[in-house]
Amino acid sequence: MSEKNIQEAVKEKYGAAARQVAAGKTACCGGGAELSGCDPITRNLYDASEKGAVPSDAVAASLGCGNPTALAELKAGEIVLDLGSGGGIDVLLSAKRVAPGGKAYGLDMTDEMLALARENQKKAGVENVEFLKGTIENIPLPDNTVDVIISNCVINLSGDKDRVMREAFRVLKPGGRFAVSDVVIRGEVPSEVRKSMELWVGCIAGALQETEYQQKLQAAGFASVDVEPTRIYQVEEARDFLTAAGLDAEKVGPQIKDKFMSAFIRAKKPVAVACDCPPGCVDLPCCH
Ligand SMILES: C[S@@+](CC[C@H](N)C(=O)[O-])C[C@H]1O[C@@H](n2cnc3c(N)ncnc32)[C@H](O)[C@@H]1O
Repeated sequence: MSEKNIQEAVKEKYGAAARQVAAGKTACCGGGAELSGCDPITRNLYDASEKGAVPSDAVAASLGCGNPTALAELKAGEIVLDLGSGGGIDVLLSAKRVAPGGKAYGLDMTDEMLALARENQKKAGVENVEFLKGTIENIPLPDNTVDVIISNCVINLSGDKDRVMREAFRVLKPGGRFAVSDVVIRGEVPSEVRKSMELWVGCIAGALQETEYQQKLQAAGFASVDVEPTRIYQVEEARDFLTAAGLDAEKVGPQIKDKFMSAFIRAKKPVAVACDCPPGCVDLPCCH
């Protein structure tokens, strides 16, 4: 699938999810949702106090696979950017954590999700929030303006993950933090099984392997890269979906054991980048 087609498929899927919430239902994420109600990926990510602090439609629209805001150690006065902000739950929670003096931006390309997020902002009565329309491959913010980038189960949807990481690096201030929840694969998985599992977790463009994730972040210029598993998916959870996809769950069980997970991915934009920058160089992150 080309990048454009991936984006269209993603917009369609999440536009439909936003319409579902606007009609009073709960959005569901991975393909498992159709078979078993809301899937184990999005379930129980937020505690009662977090859920109580935002409008119920922001909770109903939650389609993440982690809780990056809780792990990002946000401080008052910081500028936060949420890549693929959906119904806005992590933006609204972040806005509270960076007040007073800070601001939380949400970035999303799907009109219905932006409308839902802005409605949720209104209901929450939160001022230090702004939702931007755009793609995570082309972030509509200037260089060196953001303290913390968060994201919740969105980078796996991108058809150009290198570009997303370069863009994240560009908009972060020196010393800025990348603090993202995402689906990650640990080790090798046969391609047919991998495709079915990715459909189950809702990864349209495909999840990255843990080592690829680390390498791509380093290639974009990030340092102190760390991948910490937060939820490891069990074959039992995906059994019905795998069976419907024509796979023998008993047989594929050992092939996927401990390999599909939600993880919290941390990295830092170095404060001072030592660079022997050759004249005219534009490729090395430290040259711009
Ligand atoms: C899985 S949902 C997650 C939403 C939100 N982060 C949450 O935790 O509920 C993915 C969201 O990312 C948005 N999205 C996906 N790919 C994107 C891209 N390339 N650029 C901007 N937004 C994107 C979708 O429109 C959707 O709202």
